[in-house]
Amino acid sequence: MATALVTGVAGFIGSSIARALLAEGATVRGIDNLCTGSLANIEAIKSQIDFRHDDILDQAAITSACQGVDYVFHEAAIPSVPKSVEDPIGTNGPNLTGTLYVLEAARKAGVKRVLYAASSAAYGDDPTLPKHEAMLPGPISPYAVQKLAGEHYLASYTRVYGLETVALRYFNIFGPRQDPSSQYSGVLARFISQMLAGQTPTIFGDGTTSRDFTYIDNVVSANLLAAKTSAPVAGKVFNVATGRRVTLLEAFDEVKRITGYTGTVNLAPEREGDIKHSVANISLAQQTFGYKVVADFAYGLEQTIAWCKEATVYA
Ligand code: UD1
Repeated sequence: MATALVTGVAGFIGSSIARALLAEGATVRGIDNLCTGSLANIEAIKSQIDFRHDDILDQAAITSACQGVDYVFHEAAIPSVPKSVEDPIGTNGPNLTGTLYVLEAARKAGVKRVLYAASSAAYGDDPTLPKHEAMLPGPISPYAVQKLAGEHYLASYTRVYGLETVALRYFNIFGPRQDPSSQYSGVLARFISQMLAGQTPTIFGDGTTSRDFTYIDNVVSANLLAAKTSAPVAGKVFNVATGRRVTLLEAFDEVKRITGYTGTVNLAPEREGDIKHSVANISLAQQTFGYKVVADFAYGLEQTIAWCKEATVYA
């Protein structure tokens, strides 16, 4: 694996991909505006990467960052449904215009392949389960629209300019280094940090809402496989998930068991723009580029909670 650019490298997913790339011997460049990412996430690898504190919306910066790059892993985004509901215009810049800038810079620089963090939010609340790639999208939140529109730009850049692009639709990714501190943070990161601190978590809805919670190792593996494969992936969309559905109440119970939390959980009304159920059919990625679930939900929770405990100790 030659030279790779990771956008959003100081984020939870970007920093995990950067680590894996380094382990494979790649030369890694990373760009991040530190808006939602944190330098702490790349502290341990900063000396091994060409880190640029820049914004993907700065065309000169992203153009320069793509020079001499073989693969772009485009993870930079404001990855929050409620944040996009609150600020559709402000999130459209990083989430959609930023993607266009990355594609344009990659095309001009002659990048081999662009891997894109797409979102399962694109499926909306179509009751069909599991969600498969041939389904008609039905985005609900501005975030889902932005991420889906990005996919269309990718497909367009493949068709029109011949740039190889692959959209990986992530389903609720969790793991070490995910930021638990904002009201927009992923539910597992919030549950874990709250329960470890002895605070009462909140479930929005009645607890039956379900998600295909996917441990970060699966996402990293999917990215590397999709980058390296010689199968015809250009211009296509693939689910990246586990194919298993866990309800919020089950997730709460499991985090409670592992953390030893003894309290209760609050129930609050469902959030605007939320979808009720989400679970993926992952056979397309399995069949096309050999994707496998390398770490299941239970293992992922154990790892994440162990990491959070240590991070708290050293905080
Ligand atoms: C998540 C991702 C999004 C991704 C999408 C793909 C995050 C922050 N968002 O959105 O980037 O594209 O999956 O499927 O990772 N909830 C609670 N209590 C809380 C927080 C949330 O009950 O304290 C509920 C929410 O209302 C929702 C569910 O948990 O019903 C999941 O929420 P969240 O983790 O924010 O993820 P998604 O909205 O599914």
